[in-house]
This record gives sequence, C-alpha cells and structure tokens, in this order.
Amino acid sequence: MKVLGIDVGATGIKSAIVETATGELLGERHRILTPRPATPEALAEALNELLRHHHWHGMAGLGFPAAIPHGVVRTAANVDKSFIGLPISDYFSERTGARFFVANDADVAGMAEMRFGAGKDNAGVVLIVTIGTGLGTALFSDGHLLPNTELGHVLLENGQEAERYASEATRVIGNLDWPDWGGRLNLYLATMERLLWPDLIVLGGGVSDKLSEFSPMLITRAPVVAARFFNGAGIVGAALFAEESARKGTE
Ligand code: BGC
Repeated sequence: MKVLGIDVGATGIKSAIVETATGELLGERHRILTPRPATPEALAEALNELLRHHHWHGMAGLGFPAAIPHGVVRTAANVDKSFIGLPISDYFSERTGARFFVANDADVAGMAEMRFGAGKDNAGVVLIVTIGTGLGTALFSDGHLLPNTELGHVLLENGQEAERYASEATRVIGNLDWPDWGGRLNLYLATMERLLWPDLIVLGGGVSDKLSEFSPMLITRAPVVAARFFNGAGIVGAALFAEESARKGTE
C-alpha cells in the first residue's frame, strides 16, 4: 500500500510516499522548515502545504516528538505547549481533509527498523534511540513495542537530563568533537543498559550515519548499530503505523 510518511522534528518536517510492503520510498524526500512557533494551527498549515506538494489525498502517517498515549498529546518538550491535550490525529485529519494517523516519532522509527531494518527478526529486547534536537526512545521485546517511553528525559548520574547532555543539538551548540560527544552518549547508553538490559541498541537520527566517528567511545554490553534507514526511519515508520492502524480499525 502507498502511504505518505511524515516525520515532524523541532527544525524540519520530512516526508515521502512509502510502499509499506517493502519500506521503500517512492519518489523524492521532501523537507520544509517546522513553523515557529510550532502551534497546532501552524503545523496543520504546513501539512496542507506538504499534501499539495505530494499531490496527496490518501492516508498519511505522522511521527511527532511527544508522548501520545491513546491518541492524545501529553508532553511537549520541543513543540508548542498548546499541543498538550490535543487528540492529534483527529485534529490534523479535520484540518487537512486527509486521513492522519499520528504516533510518537521514535516509536514509529523503531517500527521501521524492527520490520525492515537493523532490528529485523530480533527476538530479544531492542532499544532504539533517535538522536536529534531531542533524544527519543522506542523499546521492543520480541518485536512488541512498549509505546511512549520517554527515556531521553531520565536524569544521568551527573544530575543532568539525558536529552540536554547527549542530544545532537547539544553536540552542535556546544561545538563538541565526536570523541567528546561520544563519551556523553556512552554515559547515556550505559544508564539505559543498567536499567533495561537490551540485547541490541539501534541508533537513529541525523548522527546515525556518523557512527564510525564516535563508536570507539561506546563501551556497551549490547551491540550498537546504526538504523538501516538512518534519518529516514521516521518517515517509513510513520507510513507503517498508519497502514497498521487503518487495518486494525477496519478488522
Ligand atoms: C520527546 C520525545 C521524542 C524525542 C525525539 C523528546 O524531547 O519528549 O517524545 O520522541 O524528543 O524527538
């Protein structure tokens, strides 16, 4: 099935039409800037622009950087606080006329990696960490997702919030070199290992194709691999999530 996959980040919104049977992108990836402030109204307008760009009237999946249990936005670390309490899929569907299915961005990126990528056929505990403006997490056991984990917000032993200490934004703003930043990420992953004992750690987001630059700093028990879809996992996963949710809704 062809579904429009959309990944909303704090700085950019990426989209592409995805073939959900294979995870392939059909056509070019498109990127626009995330409106500032990223209010629900402004984002709905940006989504309308995207739909026009892709000439799309069908189903759309969207990864959004917040905890969204039962379809309602509950956190807003890097988006406008007015999202809190919003039934986000219904809201975007009404404002655009397309059928939207929205879930946490790291969770959907994880779905893509578990179905077609680095976590495929892994029967153990897989932790996916997406690294961007925020630190997103998705946790799978035997291929099943525990949704809406917000493990980028844990406090590390140095008293700092993980997301503020080891995100890509922190690396860029602090002008940290790869070994410096890699050491920070290592502290985060060591903390996750102590708490969750994953069998595999998959890194996604913008830095995932630079893994060789900082992997010497990562001293973990579990193997650490880059997301197969790198920064595109969110787009693919959003489409998979939409297709799956629509199927469940009609069963
Ligand atoms: C948000 C998460 C999100 C992550 C990555 C965090 O700030 O709380 O929901 O998955 O950023 O975008």
